[in-house]
Amino acid sequence: MKDKLKSRRAIWGSKLAFILAAAGSAIGLGNIWRFPMMVGRNGGAVFVVVYLLAVALIGFTVMLAELAIGRHTLKNPVGAFEHIKPGTAWKAIGYLGVVTAVAILSYYSVVAGWAIGYIIKTAGGAFRNLGGPEAASAATSRAFETLVSNPWQVILLLLAMIGATAYIVSRGIKEGIERWSKILMPLLFLIVVFLAVRALTLPGAGAGVSFYLKPDFSKLNGTVILFAVGQAFFSLSLGLGTMLTYGSYIRRSDNLVTSAGWVSFADTAIAFLAGIIIFPTLFAIPGIEPAEGPALVFKVLPLIFSKIPLGQLFGFLFFVLLFIASLTSTISILEVPVAYLVDEKKWSRPRAAWLVGLLAFTLGVPSALSSGGDSLLTRLRIQHWMDFIFGSIALAAGALLIALFTGYVWKVKNAAQEIRCGAPRFRLEKFWSLAIRFLAPAVILIILVSQFFSQ
Ligand code: TRP
Repeated sequence: MKDKLKSRRAIWGSKLAFILAAAGSAIGLGNIWRFPMMVGRNGGAVFVVVYLLAVALIGFTVMLAELAIGRHTLKNPVGAFEHIKPGTAWKAIGYLGVVTAVAILSYYSVVAGWAIGYIIKTAGGAFRNLGGPEAASAATSRAFETLVSNPWQVILLLLAMIGATAYIVSRGIKEGIERWSKILMPLLFLIVVFLAVRALTLPGAGAGVSFYLKPDFSKLNGTVILFAVGQAFFSLSLGLGTMLTYGSYIRRSDNLVTSAGWVSFADTAIAFLAGIIIFPTLFAIPGIEPAEGPALVFKVLPLIFSKIPLGQLFGFLFFVLLFIASLTSTISILEVPVAYLVDEKKWSRPRAAWLVGLLAFTLGVPSALSSGGDSLLTRLRIQHWMDFIFGSIALAAGALLIALFTGYVWKVKNAAQEIRCGAPRFRLEKFWSLAIRFLAPAVILIILVSQFFSQ
């Protein structure tokens, strides 16, 4: 769609088209891979509670701000801040977003590459007849280690993922992918619900349900809050300008408040259900720890497929859908630097897409090589640190700056005026104007500073 930008800027066909595209960006590995990993590492249910609060109070607030900035300026992230406050340093928020996008794309695509690896594995019948609980856990763990400790395989899968992303972005995102995700996202939702029901009915699922849903508030601490807020930004695609860019294609007559509400709700529902699949299964078939880390869902999911009729087929279908959900996310990440280079630097779209893709691939290689075997990179936990620095800290910093900019520089009354186009009764205005000026900046600032001192 952005090919047409040079002459006239494109807009989403309808409010629903925006909601689906934005949900396609938001729903991805963040929900199915990162969320359960974070829950497992940060005390279980207590993390879930803080996460839900973070989405409702802070994530939603920042999303509305990003959409308003985008629709008001009709620009990419760098151009948007320059448009509202010309000649000031505020456009640095846009540059931060561009850099963070390339970094996140690099390691995100490594994990998406694993999903492609699992499509191949399930198609080949890798998880049939896993045997008793111990043997099954050992087999799925072994399968994961074999995949990630094969350097050529992970690099090739990374290349495939970034190649597919760059190809779609080079053509403009409208074609194909949007039509596809309208059919495939609801299908993903149905499979996720089906698997959640199966997981809940496994004998011994109860322990997993209480780990996931019965909060133990003695486990609450600053780190839990940092990761919960960071996860909310990551999962809702906030803090680097994705939603700002998508917002720049929304018509003035569409309601930003209800749109942001639907996107946040859909994203949260999928993440919540992913947890309902993972934790009951994990506790019902012991052998894998909740705090397992990046390997968690890849080791646990095959266990549930072995417990359902036609499990092979469901497993295969699930990983295909996970791959597509990731692809609708990676394109929205790559779109940020590409929109910047096309709009501001007058690059051609294909050149921008392929060169930034190449950069992200190069940057992704160390992450790809850092998850298996006993190499130096593995011991340095490169992928872990990339995710921590860019996926948690940089997004939080970006969101903080966006909140401060909206609240104090652009000013809430101007932002609210933009939001009121299409939403004549902006019922949450009071809440939003307080949250964007005080609640969101204070919470983010406190967690960033405390994190700084605890490292
Ligand atoms: N939200 C996506 C997911 O959960 C990933 C993503 C897309 C993203 N765009 C983003 C994360 C922008 C941070 C910022 O998988």
